[in-house]
Amino acid sequence: MNTKQNIQKPEGKLGILTPGIGAVSTTFIAGSISARKGLGQPIGSIAEMGKIRLGKRTENRNPMVKDFVPLASLNDLVFGGWDITDANVYEAAVNAGVLDKDELFEIKEELSAIKPMKAVFDTKYVKNINGEHVKQEETKMDSAKALMADIAEFKTTNDCSRLVMIWCASTETYIQESDVHASLENFEKGLYENDPAISPSMIYAYAALRSGVPFINGAPNLSCDIPAILELAAETSMPIAGKDFKTGQTLMKTILGPGLKSRLLGIDGWFSTNILGNRDGEVLDDAESFKTKEVSKLSVLESILEPNEYPDLYKDMYHKVRINYYPPKGDDKESWDNIDIFGWLGKKMQIKVNFLCKDSILAAPVVLDLALFMDLAQRAEMKGIQEWLSFYFKSPQTLEGLEPIHDVFLQKVKFENTLRHLMGETLINHLGLDYYEE
Ligand SMILES: NC(=O)c1ccc[n+]([C@@H]2O[C@H](COP(=O)([O-])OP(=O)(O)OC[C@H]3O[C@@H](n4cnc5c(N)ncnc54)[C@H](O)[C@@H]3O)[C@@H](O)[C@H]2O)c1
Repeated sequence: MNTKQNIQKPEGKLGILTPGIGAVSTTFIAGSISARKGLGQPIGSIAEMGKIRLGKRTENRNPMVKDFVPLASLNDLVFGGWDITDANVYEAAVNAGVLDKDELFEIKEELSAIKPMKAVFDTKYVKNINGEHVKQEETKMDSAKALMADIAEFKTTNDCSRLVMIWCASTETYIQESDVHASLENFEKGLYENDPAISPSMIYAYAALRSGVPFINGAPNLSCDIPAILELAAETSMPIAGKDFKTGQTLMKTILGPGLKSRLLGIDGWFSTNILGNRDGEVLDDAESFKTKEVSKLSVLESILEPNEYPDLYKDMYHKVRINYYPPKGDDKESWDNIDIFGWLGKKMQIKVNFLCKDSILAAPVVLDLALFMDLAQRAEMKGIQEWLSFYFKSPQTLEGLEPIHDVFLQKVKFENTLRHLMGETLINHLGLDYYEE
């Protein structure tokens, strides 16, 4: 099934719009600008530094991903976004404290020129923060229209040929799917009637798709994963993807989990705790925002371990996740995992993982890759949920009725095979049957 698709060339500028100009988005923007000036390497970005094997091993074909698929170049990227404070990207990056002041100073001019647009925000959905740089529209539909006007103006002012929007704003409170989300018609009625079940992130998603802009959700809250937005993506032929960037502890979990499972080692319990002191940590200190994150973090192991298929090994596993706000840590998150495992004849063993990570440093390449691959998806006319990008998410969005794949290695195979498929190359299944075929 090898069809080389007619993919439009990435001509002109690509605008990357982020609701939220905080730690993740400023680290992503500053890093991308530093990389294009040769001041640093975009480490962790598959789009920029990855290679992909093509054909048989004996062919020795391993091109750079960016030479294999037509991706926008770093030189053609333009950045913009919205926030509830009016700090420009330089000021926001200094506040976030992820990158050194010296590093930021070298690109101060470019960063200072990126000023946030006024946000669509309501403290009901993110309780622990507030700001003045916020649109004051009468209805949620008016807010959506104001965002669409921002998008159109940004595109013209910056002479962009294409845009993508990627949610890098705070995690919103837990919202259960309800009638207003069930269809586009209900949703639009709800926008006019200020329905409380429509959160700001949903309004951004709506405005993006209505403007012909793909939408990606980097946080765990409900946003583009509701039937109304799926319907809109189908109607506008736009790609969407989500949710919750896979970084830090969950990344480790989806690396370790499949390894233990592959050797059929049993697990009694997996206790994960974190301390972090950035604004994301402050937001997650609110029980409702934490609940959204907890649901996203807990779902991962179940799908990797398949307790129903392997009840003797995983059925009684106790899985607990905790996040604690601890200001002295800043963006340097520290996580501990205690994994109680058992092997041959049920003998017990323990694994302890203490990961001292920098969350935004792990998230920045994910944002860059998602923006570049979603732009590829829009040029390849791939619409709806982009499940092949599950590799980058804690809670991959799938079509209704499909279980998401969490195993990072399976996700990588799916991702690479999608690129091979797009370019008409043979899919690689690692069977190695060449010897027998000859
Ligand atoms: N850092 C990671 O590794 C990681 C991993 C997965 C998910 N995430 C998610 O990414 C998001 C960003 O993380 P961060 O560390 O940059 O947080 P942050 O608090 O530093 O930045 C979020 C920014 O969003 C702004 N904001 C909040 N609501 C807004 C709205 N409605 N419109 C516009 N701006 C709004 C805030 O003012 C803040 O500046 C969070 O939701 C976080 O949970 C981060």
